[in-house]
Amino acid sequence: MFRLGTIELERPIALAPMDDVTDLAYRRLCKRFGADLVYTEFTNVEGIVRRVPRSMQKLEMTDDERPVAIQLYGSNGESLAEATKIVEELGPDFIDINCGCWVKKVANRGDGAGLLKDLKRFEQVTRSVVENTTLPVTVKTRLGWDDKSIVVEDVARMLAANGVQALTVHARTRCQGYTGRADWSWFERIKTAAPDLPLLGNGDVETPEDVKRIFEAGVDGVMIGRGAIANPWLFRRSKAYLATGALPPEPELRERVEVCLEHLRAQVELRGERRGVPSFRKLYGNYLKYARNIAHLRRILMTLVEVEPIEALLRQFLEKHENDDLSAGAA
Ligand SMILES: Cc1cc2nc3c(=O)[nH]c(=O)nc-3n(C[C@H](O)[C@H](O)[C@H](O)COP(=O)(O)O)c2cc1C
Repeated sequence: MFRLGTIELERPIALAPMDDVTDLAYRRLCKRFGADLVYTEFTNVEGIVRRVPRSMQKLEMTDDERPVAIQLYGSNGESLAEATKIVEELGPDFIDINCGCWVKKVANRGDGAGLLKDLKRFEQVTRSVVENTTLPVTVKTRLGWDDKSIVVEDVARMLAANGVQALTVHARTRCQGYTGRADWSWFERIKTAAPDLPLLGNGDVETPEDVKRIFEAGVDGVMIGRGAIANPWLFRRSKAYLATGALPPEPELRERVEVCLEHLRAQVELRGERRGVPSFRKLYGNYLKYARNIAHLRRILMTLVEVEPIEALLRQFLEKHENDDLSAGAA
């Protein structure tokens, strides 16, 4: 059983925080499809302290997505403490600290994965949050800065000693970025180092079979990022696979189009048409995966700026291709 404060979950599958992907609209959708835990996109503590509108908007949550975490990042103790208090008032179920972001402008400043180079500072960051909230605090990190400095076992012990209640590990180093494969063999060693700290495994989980395999690697929960982009079905299919051992089919084209449109409308409601439609363009490819003859359709979708013509076009495409064999399209 995975326990976090009063939250109790059996083999939870979490939607990873992803900037510009896991906004409120998408989190709610994934929740409906079975995601057990969801997180806001990472938000810098300085933006929260100054109550920058774009930062505060990222922190909006709704009751139907609970349990939901707000994810913070930063390394200034005072800002972390103040942001933690502000965030607690917003009512998340727990607070997650991003200690794994690898992008230069974050990590080279000593934030995110930059903390893996300085465990004293990592500990101070953790304490600045834990000591300023009554909510459970969790941490998300990577294995270490590079393959010569893997510190994740020390990190797990340090976090457990400082009252952190769960750890997520993306099983790559900062220097790997997204190259190579996530090395799930670390999960057992992390559990040995900190047996009482619930561990969520993350990295390269793309299918229900991967979900089963990563649980077998010794984690208490799974977190899925890229594999869940425009693919909320992965949660439902993975749960069914874990429960029965039978792999449910991929959704039909009709369901893909309907859910794609539902997501688009929710995103536009949240961000407005001018911002919501262009930022949705990166998602059509995944939603329409397996459909044949989509090159032309995608080219047109990239030019449209309003929801109505997009909906009309997708429905027209559906009428024409509904009976295509999707598996053949994948070949
Ligand atoms: C577009 C994108 C945005 C991301 N934004 C965040 C973020 O805001 N916070 C965070 O902790 N990780 C972020 N990540 C990392 C993911 O949460 C996850 O750790 C990583 O993608 C590895 O998991 P995966 O192989 O399942 O994708 C992001 C990843 C992607 C692809």
